[in-house]
Amino acid sequence: MNLTFTLNGKSVTVNVEPDERLVRILRDELGLAGTKAGCYRGECGSCSVLLEGQVVPSCLVPAFALRGATIVTIEGFARTKEYAEIVRAFEEAEYTPCGHCHAGRLLAIHALLERNPSPTEREILAGLSGVRCQCTDVGSLLRAVNLVAYSRTRKPRARARP
Ligand code: FES
Ligand code: FES
Repeated sequence: MNLTFTLNGKSVTVNVEPDERLVRILRDELGLAGTKAGCYRGECGSCSVLLEGQVVPSCLVPAFALRGATIVTIEGFARTKEYAEIVRAFEEAEYTPCGHCHAGRLLAIHALLERNPSPTEREILAGLSGVRCQCTDVGSLLRAVNLVAYSRTRKPRARARP
């Protein structure tokens, strides 16, 4: 099937099977390797993307559900000032996620703070629970998210438009 959707601010058309998964379309058809493939069962979150602003595991999104949708991957998000803000906070908090969960964590933090600008620690952990991480400590993650939340709430800003 021919399928047109908006990806990182641009209209794209691909020819794929209706049940092909978004993670494979992004990586294999469109060459966007920043979206990592892991479990393919919706459990690890390494394949996370923003679909209509919500974080979703792209391994669970079938092609037929994408018609007319708006998708943002880490490649698109990396062009926003919100991305730079989160990366800066990671450095300040000495939070250093490895390549496996990095993209998912960044997108999940952004989506969490868009719907809840001042989350509690419990809300942060719940909001990021869809992206599993084996490598880094929770303390530096919480410090990083709190730094981003503080930075976002103390100044006016425009919404991300990758
Ligand atoms: S590969 Fe999609 S959640 Fe693990
Ligand atoms: S899985 Fe390596 S930092 Fe999260």
